[in-house]
Amino acid sequence: MDPLFKFKLCFLALSLFLATAYGYTVVSGFVFCDKCKDGQVSIFDFDYPINGVKVKIACGDGKGGVTDLREEPTNFFGGYTMSFEGTPDLSGCTATVTGPAQGAMTNCSAGGGPPRSLKLLFRLLDLEMYGVDPLVSQPDQPMSFCSSRSAPVPGPKPPSPPSLPSLPKLPPLPKLPPLPPLPPFPPMRQMPHTPFLEASACQHENWTNPDYKCYWRAVNPDTKVAVIFGAIAAERYGTDMTLWKGLQGRGDPYKTLLREAITAFLNSYSSLHFPYHSLSVVQHFNLALMDGSERSVLHAALRFKHANSGNGHVTCKFDPCK
Ligand SMILES: *[C@@H]1O[C@H](CO)[C@@H](O)[C@H](O)[C@H]1NC(C)=O
Ligand SMILES: *[C@@H]1O[C@H](CO)[C@@H](O)[C@H](O)[C@H]1NC(C)=O
Repeated sequence: MDPLFKFKLCFLALSLFLATAYGYTVVSGFVFCDKCKDGQVSIFDFDYPINGVKVKIACGDGKGGVTDLREEPTNFFGGYTMSFEGTPDLSGCTATVTGPAQGAMTNCSAGGGPPRSLKLLFRLLDLEMYGVDPLVSQPDQPMSFCSSRSAPVPGPKPPSPPSLPSLPKLPPLPKLPPLPPLPPFPPMRQMPHTPFLEASACQHENWTNPDYKCYWRAVNPDTKVAVIFGAIAAERYGTDMTLWKGLQGRGDPYKTLLREAITAFLNSYSSLHFPYHSLSVVQHFNLALMDGSERSVLHAALRFKHANSGNGHVTCKFDPCK
């Protein structure tokens, strides 16, 4: 038996076991530095995901009281992930930035953004995954370039244009960033017309074809790219980018990479024989973005594309949904 296939079988068995034996709930999201204190995440302000602030999840008890569930700091990439045993209903809970984590090296930890509700992204067997819209944390004072940008100073001698701060430079990374946990493979009995055990590789056109909508199972078209691919993807493609929108991208290497990576991710869930495992799709995608050169972005995109087109001999085994 081919080792990759064996690995996938083990992974499948393990995820099914974990999910059914204990039940498991994951909450994840990002915190951005709202540099201009305008209450929103804006690419024009160069707002970036911020590391070292604490995020608290609190839930109403139904009688007007509030219980704190968990508090954890954001990681190097501005993301946080909290997991809970069992499958508690967290739909009435919110996430808030509460302040700097111990030893935080940031001036953007005063909190200040509104709490955000937890949204159930999907439920599979006993696994629940919640996402949270981006939280913001603010500096004590808006950064200096903010006011000069929105209100130009009049005068005979215009001030020299404010220099925009550059995005924080990521130091070279010894290992991959922590990635959001992925949902387990969908159970086979729930997928009557999916050729899960059959080799199948579909292209992005197949996944966006409305005739095959029922093949979207583990994730749905509105799932945010950031939830699956993590903070680096959020920084590159924005936090509003959905899987569906990402599948339509074309015209530059980054859009092509995203389109092919999403397609590969969907394929990895729909066929056990797909050459990439879902986690490895996420990892290869992140490595290409972190390398940052157009060449490696394009290379990764082409490798995914090759796999999505079945390496020349596997076809797409979709049947139109009833
Ligand atoms: C925080 O702000 C202070 C004063 O404005 C500055 O001296 C310091 O370098 C800043 N620290 C960071 C990490 O940006
Ligand atoms: C999938 O898309 C490819 C490329 O557009 C097409 O040739 C193929 O027929 C499609 N397969 C199915 C099952 O629709």
